Amino acid sequence: MSSDRARSSLIVALDVPDADAALALAGTLAGHVGMLKIGLELFVAEGPSIVQRVKAAHPELGIFLDLKLHDIPNTMAGAITSARKLGADLITVHAGSGVEHLRACVEAAGDELGVLAVTVLTSQDAAACQQAGHTRPVSEIVGMRVDAAREAGCAGIVCSGQELLSLRERAGSLYKVVPGIRPAGAAVGDQKRVMTPARAIGDGATHLVVGRPIRNAEDPAAAADAIVAEIDGAL
Ligand code: C5P
Repeated sequence: MSSDRARSSLIVALDVPDADAALALAGTLAGHVGMLKIGLELFVAEGPSIVQRVKAAHPELGIFLDLKLHDIPNTMAGAITSARKLGADLITVHAGSGVEHLRACVEAAGDELGVLAVTVLTSQDAAACQQAGHTRPVSEIVGMRVDAAREAGCAGIVCSGQELLSLRERAGSLYKVVPGIRPAGAAVGDQKRVMTPARAIGDGATHLVVGRPIRNAEDPAAAADAIVAEIDGAL
């Protein structure tokens, strides 16, 4: 029997096109995972009510609203207030917005909603950062954004598994939420730098985001259970 702690650290991405598919997957995974992640695809297709519908169907599951906000502080804070009213538990914003922006988000979020700062997207490599005008190495940019997240009082960061060890000290007690997770033998898909659940937890991840390895499995609940067991073994 896997521990509640292991289960609560598993976040499954509801990367599906509509509410019917999202509610069906949520129903299959209830009791097997800790949180469901609603991203841009589903949110744009169904609107904010999708958060309330999933929450109403499964009040025991956390909702992670992955909207990666990036705007002026006042607008970001307004969006955070709206997300809070919807009942989301976690929301992402871009850390590159700066400390002032992050602080406005944290203030608007209050105690119920945790703000996660996305450091540098895993799809952005050194060349992409340079093209965007950043002269420092990616690792340094990530480090500076972790500092900004801490200073602003964010609940956590979203980072690549590869960055976990180097960020360990700097990130302190921030949640470290890691996508790009692949159990040994699972298809990698478009993810470039993947990591197993056990390795990510061993390196300090507090939450893992998993999409296709669970969603596309023949038995998604069993696939989730296997990952939870692997997390449990690494805790
Ligand atoms: O299917 P897969 O396990 O690759 O899904 C990973 C999820 O995490 C997707 O929803 C993706 O958008 C999200 N994500 C990511 N890399 C990031 C941030 C979020 O893969 N840097």
